[in-house]
Amino acid sequence: MEQIFSSLCMLIFVQCLQHGAAQPADVWYEQARQTLDHAISLENLNTNTAKNIILFLGDGMGVTTVTSTRIKKGQEKNETGEEYILNMDKFPHVALSKTYNTNYQVPDSAGTATAFLCGAKTKRGMIGQDDTGTRSDCEASLGSDIPSILEIAQQAGKSVGIVTTTRLTHATPASAYAHIPDRYWEADSDIPLEEQNKGCDDIALQFIQNPGIQVALGGGRSKFTPTTLDDPENPITKGDRDDGRNLIKEWLESKPEGTAEFVWNEADFDLVDPAETDFLLGLFAASHMSYENSRLDDNAGEPHIASMTNKAIKILAKNPEGFFLLVEGGRIDHAHHANVASNALYDGIAFDDAIEMAKNMTSSTDTMIVVTADHSHTNVVNGYQSRGNPILGKADKDIGADGLPYTTILYTNGPGGITVDQNYRTSGNRGDITDTDTEADVYIQQALVQQVSSEHAGEDVLIFADGPMAHLIHGIHEQHYISHVMQYAACIGNYTAACP
Ligand SMILES: *[C@@H]1O[C@H](CO)[C@@H](O)[C@H](O)[C@H]1NC(C)=O
Ligand SMILES: *[C@@H]1O[C@H](CO)[C@@H](O)[C@H](O)[C@H]1NC(C)=O
Ligand SMILES: *[C@@H]1O[C@H](CO)[C@@H](O)[C@H](O)[C@H]1NC(C)=O
Ligand SMILES: [Zn+2]
Repeated sequence: MEQIFSSLCMLIFVQCLQHGAAQPADVWYEQARQTLDHAISLENLNTNTAKNIILFLGDGMGVTTVTSTRIKKGQEKNETGEEYILNMDKFPHVALSKTYNTNYQVPDSAGTATAFLCGAKTKRGMIGQDDTGTRSDCEASLGSDIPSILEIAQQAGKSVGIVTTTRLTHATPASAYAHIPDRYWEADSDIPLEEQNKGCDDIALQFIQNPGIQVALGGGRSKFTPTTLDDPENPITKGDRDDGRNLIKEWLESKPEGTAEFVWNEADFDLVDPAETDFLLGLFAASHMSYENSRLDDNAGEPHIASMTNKAIKILAKNPEGFFLLVEGGRIDHAHHANVASNALYDGIAFDDAIEMAKNMTSSTDTMIVVTADHSHTNVVNGYQSRGNPILGKADKDIGADGLPYTTILYTNGPGGITVDQNYRTSGNRGDITDTDTEADVYIQQALVQQVSSEHAGEDVLIFADGPMAHLIHGIHEQHYISHVMQYAACIGNYTAACP
């Protein structure tokens, strides 16, 4: 049904409603009728048990980012863009997630990841620990650990894995396997001296302490290697570990002979045979992986997020009990922090491609897929431009009251701020972009308030759900509810007896 719906939409809606062609009421009526038929068909709820759960997390992918990614992806296909249908747009159930942390109105990625993975809101900066813990205080936080859905799925006999484009030790992936009161304690050398030896192992060490994670793909090699070791891609870069341990080597040695592989470049990654590999660790950059947009600059090559998702599913799906997989498009957030919207949109498109990959490889009869964001960003889509105007371009119909052109995407805060002096005092003058190519890869959009790095935004974010029990994603939810719905759908954790 979904397949028929989307192909009809493609035929009638997308192609008929391009800018320039007539768009009579009949075409809109037909599009609405198809949407209605689809909605009515959803009365037959999918109450199966989810054998597999895949959580797609677009870091910083607020509603405006979804809208502008949709337009960009359509425009890349030479469509006007607004009418384009992302893979996530095709999901039958959609709701909103309230993202605040227990102590912050506008959240960070650690407190939010703990909410949607571990099922309870917590303080900003805390990883896998609840609100009884204290940020950056090891001793005060011992005893506040809460299990993540990855750990719960693992206990239930499922295979588990993580795919990310950030460091594997960054806030979102870390919250799947680590319990620590500070997101920045990624290697031992990141933990302040006064907090060391109090019972808090660094995040990278906690990763290898979980022997059952079968797939982990992303960046962040340096958090796993000692300061004495050169990075394979760039010998000037050294490891971050003061304890002299090479955790990659230890990870490999801890696995049964012939079952595990470590890869750090795309060519070796492509050679990995999922049928022959039960454990796969891929660390493709010393720190974060490249933006999708600047992949060509990366000598050793890095796999796309869709390819990582493909290989992860192939390895995990070998388990007859099913699997849990977290896939993070982690650098959408970083691009927004830099006010570089093009990087955010191209990473958003790659993230949506990964969703297509997962949809194609699984069935909604036994696989629940949830797509959401941890928090929003301060980007807006504004102005009265023409239909089909380039989403990274300038408003084509008007200019600001200051007489200057402006871009469709602007930020309320960040490095594109209009201030000029180091004390962050405003000059009152907005830069003139008349002769600037705002669609260039490195263009920094303008912002109202100057910040070295833009801050997050606090409005609700979307949750899209498909597969068993997806209809339980149905309203305005607190973010931590997502972990509970996934556990219920899979009949694991405390919901083992509660589900049908
Ligand atoms: C879009 O149009 C341009 C210019 O006409 C063309 O070079 C390009 O191949 C087209 N792309 C697609 C995806 O059709
Ligand atoms: C998914 O399946 C569709 C339909 O068969 C195909 O057109 C598309 O290329 C596939 N996408 C991926 C990422 O495999
Ligand atoms: C699960 O049940 C245990 C034991 O009753 C309880 O301590 C724990 O808080 C519950 N966890 C969740 C996520 O409901
Ligand atoms: Zn962020």
